[in-house]
Amino acid sequence: MKNKLEDLRKKILKELDKAKTGELLDELEIKYLGRKGELSNILRSIKDLGEKERGEIGQLANAIKTDVTAKFAEIKAEVAGKESITQFVDVTLPGKKIERGHLHPITLIQAELEDLFISLGFLVADGPELESDYYNFEALNIPKTHPARDMQDTFYIDKKNAAGEYDLLLRTHTSNVQVRAMQKYGAPLKAVGSGRCFRSEATDARHEHTLYQFEGFMIDKDINFSHLKGILELVGKKLFGPDTKLRMRPKFYPFVEPGTNGEYTCSLCHGQGCRVCKNSGWLEIVGAGLVHPNVLRAGGIDPEIYSGYAFGFGLSRLAQLKYGIDDARLAMSGDLRFLNQF
Ligand code: DAH
Repeated sequence: MKNKLEDLRKKILKELDKAKTGELLDELEIKYLGRKGELSNILRSIKDLGEKERGEIGQLANAIKTDVTAKFAEIKAEVAGKESITQFVDVTLPGKKIERGHLHPITLIQAELEDLFISLGFLVADGPELESDYYNFEALNIPKTHPARDMQDTFYIDKKNAAGEYDLLLRTHTSNVQVRAMQKYGAPLKAVGSGRCFRSEATDARHEHTLYQFEGFMIDKDINFSHLKGILELVGKKLFGPDTKLRMRPKFYPFVEPGTNGEYTCSLCHGQGCRVCKNSGWLEIVGAGLVHPNVLRAGGIDPEIYSGYAFGFGLSRLAQLKYGIDDARLAMSGDLRFLNQF
């Protein structure tokens, strides 16, 4: 048995020396070390030997196995090194395609509108998503106990300020940009501000807790309702085409007086009535009005000298209408099957 083992060791090492390719080495490995390989067979038969022999032969067989396994690894590494040098590289093969990203449908509309307003001399202002109660509500003429707060329930942050009040929240609209910009730039002022807003919504196909809005406002001497109408007509034509008509109806928003609801002729049926416009021919898009004197005052602007208009609308909703997206939740889903369509 001892001799048989020594012979096997020699035989394996000799064959290993001759093996020049990875393929041959694999074959040898199966032949000797594989489950049904010669060395494995011997190792398996050791249990049938007498007690004395079993210890001695067992030790030898295991030593040979370790030895041979190490040699296999050594030669394999050697052969692999040589093979990789001699491997043919076809430089004419097409390369791996690098996936290029693209803009999100909401970002596309946001950029389109910003371009329009920049061309009209508006500045692009910014406001924080984590906002104070003051800029999101109070400064916009929505006092603490006012029922108008119910129109926009939000996420409050569980942290008190120095006065012991919970005054941080996720902004519910981009209107928070208004008073911030007034304080920073004063009057006259033409600005837009857009971005992410949040509402405590039970989500469904028409509601999402995270949404995008676009806000615009202009403050100067003698600004009146006709200026507002003019700019909203322009926005409608830019978004939905040159034949788009605007209709304005009264609506209450605490930060404007008078307040209005702007509707455009439905871009899908051109005012004929369809499923999207609920057969009315009109799409409710924009909230707007003349800036409330209290808001101007909060911004440090004298309402006796200056007046202004403001408007705001949902970019998420616009993207839905423009691209025919039937579920509001898709925009923020991160689902590539959806996103790759743009
Ligand atoms: N902030 C309002 C909302 O989220 C939209 C809005 C209405 C903005 C009237 C305005 C405005 O600037 O004047 O529903």
